[in-house]
Amino acid sequence: MGLTVLISNFFSEKSLLVLSTISKEGTPSSRIVLLKTMDKQGFVFFTNYKSNKSLDIQENPNVSLLFYWPLIERQVRITGKIEKVSLEESQNYFKTRSRKSKIGAWASKQSSVIHSKKDFQDQIARYTKKYKNKTIPCPLFWGGYRLIPSSFEFWQARVNRLHDRFIYTIKNKTWTINRLSP
Ligand SMILES: Cc1cc2nc3c(=O)[nH]c(=O)nc-3n(C[C@H](O)[C@H](O)[C@H](O)COP(=O)(O)O)c2cc1C
Repeated sequence: MGLTVLISNFFSEKSLLVLSTISKEGTPSSRIVLLKTMDKQGFVFFTNYKSNKSLDIQENPNVSLLFYWPLIERQVRITGKIEKVSLEESQNYFKTRSRKSKIGAWASKQSSVIHSKKDFQDQIARYTKKYKNKTIPCPLFWGGYRLIPSSFEFWQARVNRLHDRFIYTIKNKTWTINRLSP
């Protein structure tokens, strides 16, 4: 089975994943994001380009993605490098979001400290007024990232903890597959 087929059998849009990044100081950090699209090039999610995760990515584009499906006892770990998606791709996705989500993207300086909930509500009100009866553009500080994978580890639970693990790694555009000890 080709890797593309294997991947498309595993992932679907709307899968949640754990994204782990490393800060300039070397501190790891993980958080959940929503997988928006997955294609031959990689895995795409959207976020604020000034958030903590984005600051980490600017310093170090090597990240890890983790998917876990508890009901089928399956885990997939992916490592690779992150690239920004094109402005057009971000704008196209932004257009599909609800007006309230668009306003939220403008109002939220993601990961920064807010002094009170009222301050944030005031920002929502400000952008709601600003864009009343207008098309809401995609903020330049908001958009997508694409993870270009360089390794996949597929883990499937088996009885007596004799789990199956397969690692795919790429070198010179060729994927190598190895079975790992559980
Ligand atoms: C179910 C779920 C889905 C989420 N999806 C996203 C997402 O797609 N993009 C995003 O920026 N944050 C998403 N978040 C919020 C992040 O986990 C995180 O709180 C936020 O991005 C700030 O992270 P940072 O400070 O490390 O940058 C989601 C959280 C949860 C629990």
